Amino acid sequence: MKLIVAIIKPHKLDDVRNGLTSIGQNGITVSNVEGFGRQKGRTEIYRGAEYFYDWVPKVKIELAVRDDLIEKVIQTIIDNARTSKIGDGKIFVINLERAYRIRTGEDGEAAL
Ligand SMILES: Nc1ncnc2c1ncn2[C@@H]1O[C@H](COP(=O)(O)OP(=O)(O)OP(=O)(O)O)[C@@H](O)[C@H]1O
Ligand SMILES: [Mg+2]
Repeated sequence: MKLIVAIIKPHKLDDVRNGLTSIGQNGITVSNVEGFGRQKGRTEIYRGAEYFYDWVPKVKIELAVRDDLIEKVIQTIIDNARTSKIGDGKIFVINLERAYRIRTGEDGEAAL
């Protein structure tokens, strides 16, 4: 299992969510975050207007993913989050040691 953490443009969230549910991902956690990348803030287009930011608004999605879905999940995030302009974001893949489904007590991939 992996924990996939992706930072994406806020207006791409619905597309990313729809893509991920269509390939069988059961759950996603979303947070509104702020960050910067190589341009150190700088000018970005946000909702059609150009702004200068120190901290650029982004959405962070976190997903616990079973092994056979990992490559599909990564490609689906890339395909749905890409605008080909600066600030499209990052995907981080982290080993996930354990998962538990609280209602049933299931663990491992069965918990996802
Ligand atoms: N190395 C990093 N560690 C943690 N978060 C990062 C890192 N790089 C980028 N981020 C997060 O991802 C967001 C988007 O990064 P961004 O896509 O601008 O990266 P970039 O390397 O500058 O690529 P690009 O040149 O395409 O803009 C940042 O605002 C920040 O929240
Ligand atoms: Mg950038």
